[in-house]
Parts: sequence; structure tokens; C-alpha cells
Amino acid sequence: MINPVYTADKGRYDSGMKYRRCGRSGIMLPELSLGLWQNFGDTAPLARSREMILHAFDRGICHFDLANNYGPSYGSAESTFGAIMDKDLKPYRDELFISTKAGYDMWPGPYGDHGSRKYLISSLDQSLKRMKVDYVDIFYSHRYDPDTPLEETMQALVDIVRSGKALYAGISNYPVEAAEYAYNYLRYHDTPCLLHQLKYSILHRVPENEGLLQQAKEAGSGFIAFSPLAQGLLTDRYLGGIPEDSRAARDFTLKRSSITAELMEKLKKLDEIASDRGQSLAQMALSWVLKDDLVTSVIVGASSISQLDDNLQAVQNTDFCEEEIKIINDLTI
Ligand SMILES: NC(=O)c1ccc[n+]([C@@H]2O[C@H](COP(=O)([O-])OP(=O)(O)OC[C@H]3O[C@@H](n4cnc5c(N)ncnc54)[C@H](OP(=O)(O)O)[C@@H]3O)[C@@H](O)[C@H]2O)c1
Repeated sequence: MINPVYTADKGRYDSGMKYRRCGRSGIMLPELSLGLWQNFGDTAPLARSREMILHAFDRGICHFDLANNYGPSYGSAESTFGAIMDKDLKPYRDELFISTKAGYDMWPGPYGDHGSRKYLISSLDQSLKRMKVDYVDIFYSHRYDPDTPLEETMQALVDIVRSGKALYAGISNYPVEAAEYAYNYLRYHDTPCLLHQLKYSILHRVPENEGLLQQAKEAGSGFIAFSPLAQGLLTDRYLGGIPEDSRAARDFTLKRSSITAELMEKLKKLDEIASDRGQSLAQMALSWVLKDDLVTSVIVGASSISQLDDNLQAVQNTDFCEEEIKIINDLTI
């Protein structure tokens, strides 16, 4: 239990967390960041969310990843974070790297979705109020919108940074060509892209297959991976069936039907490889993403302190020998 009056652990930067430089920038990010997409909304107990966020900070996780519509319900993960910011983390604001995003559906009507200047700027204003902060450290265009001129979306990011409401700009879920345009536009307007945020895990290889990792490096941008545990598949969560309190049981963003016998067989084999490395499956999955220095950080989700603690150990062993990589590739590609 966390004391009602929170004081951060004095050893938070000596507890084993490592930090990596984010592209060609002055920013270092922890190898492990905490994402608030699920498990931190108004359907989750606030006390548990508080405990997890403060525990993460006490273990050197200083980057928290949010978006306008994280919850459920939409906006409520930012409100949870705001409550904790207000009560506990305010004295530590300058030690925190906080992100938010806009790009997916948020409010009804034509201005609460996609990539318009109107949506991005008004959404960030709402996010700042919910999170009870004056600025975020990075604001992302959450997805590429083929129907909005990309220069409109990019100029909105530039103007947001110039307004001081965000210190850096980022993109998420951009395909190669649009990412190239974004990197160039932002650099040309003196707001170099700090991060490209994409889904990347042992089970989801698009960033390496499509050259998005290398592209980010060449553009001087960092790369941050989301869903590195494939929403929990790459953990021991489902090795014995689908637990009632799990994400797959909710059958929404992780479908029950995706957990096939064939997948289970692969996961069990991966679990054996992890055991041989002296790691849990979750630890190996995170280490696997971090083995590559093209990756700045991985954003994990968690529904308990014990999951978080398990994941924190991953940064201790991110080296893979060629034989291990080959066995994992043969199993999963
Ligand atoms: N930019 C984007 O479009 C985008 C999209 C998705 C996510 N994201 C970001 O990435 C973050 C992470 O995404 P994610 O939640 O899908 O990540 P994930 O780390 O792949 O999955 C997290 C889930 O895995 C399970 N888990 C985590 N650690 C575990 C452990 N040690 N042992 C057993 N189970 C464990 C938990 O499932 P249970 O809840 O079932 O316990 C947890 O909720 C999000 O919060 C968000 O910040 C960004």
C-alpha cells in the first residue's frame, strides 16, 4: 500500500532502469514506459491505478503514455492521471515525460476524429485540463489521415509546439511514405519529430519488415514500440486458458477467437525458450524488442503491480544470441 502522502523513492534512478537517447535529441527515455490505454479508466479502481503509476515512477519509469480517448470511458485515463498528478506527482513534474495524442474518435460530430488542425488543437486543450498539467512533453498525431492534407496535420503539430502546449511532436501509426513526409515537414519547420510510435512485438513485425525502424533512425527520430506483449499474449496470462479478468475475456481489443490452438502451441514454445534464458515469457518478449538499439523504449500495459515488477526485470537481459533469434524467427515468422 502506498502512503496517503506520497514521497517518491529516493533510489528511483538506481533501481536498475536504463535510459536510451531518443533519436537525435536531448531526450533520454526509460527502456520501459507505462501506457494507460486500458486498466486506468473510470471502470478501474483509482487506488489500483494510483499504486501502479507511483510504483512505476519509484522504479525509474518516468515516461507515461496517454491519449485523449484512453479509458474506458474516453478521456478517463487522462482524468485518472490528472488526479494522481494533482495529489502526488505535482512536485515531480519536471522529472516526468508525459505524452498524449489525438487522431482516433473522441467526441461526436465532424471535429472529434482524424487529422484536422481543429481537432488536434482543441483535443490537446481538453487533455491538458483533464491531466491537470500546463503542457505535455510530447503530443502525437495518433494516426495518419489520408483525407486531411498532411501539411495541415503537421502544421498543427508545429504550432502546438510553438505555443508551448507541447515540448515535442510525434507521429503514430504512420505508413512509410506519410512518415517520410512528416519527418521532412517537421524538420523543415524546426520541430523535428521526436518519436514514431508503432505496434511492434515478436508476433507483429511490420516496423522491421517495412523499414519503419531504420527510417526513424535515418530521420533522427526515436522509435517507441506499443503492445510489445501483443496485449498479453506474450506472457503467461493465457498459457492455461483465458482468465476471467483478462483482456481477452473482455473480447474487445483482444479477441478470444485470436487465441487459437496453433497460437497456443507457439506461445508454449516461446515460453520454453524464455525459461532457458532465465526469463518469464513477458520478460523475454520485452527484451526481444529492446535487443535492437533502433528502439528507444517499449510501452507496456499492466493490470497489477506484480505484472509491472515482472516486466521491470526485462531490462536486465536484452542480449540475444543468433541461435535464439533464429529459433524465435522460425517459430513466429
Ligand atoms: N499509438 C497507438 O495507436 C497505441 C495503440 C495501442 C497501445 N498504445 C500504447 O501502448 C501501451 C501498451 O499497449 P498494450 O496495453 O496493448 O501493451 P502490452 O504490454 O502488449 O499488453 C498489456 C497487457 O498484457 C498483460 N500483461 C502485462 N504484463 C504482464 C505480465 N508480466 N504477465 C502477465 N500478463 C501481463 C496485461 O493484460 P491483462 O490486462 O489481461 O492483465 C496487460 O494489460 C498502451 O497503454 C498505450 O499507451 C498505443
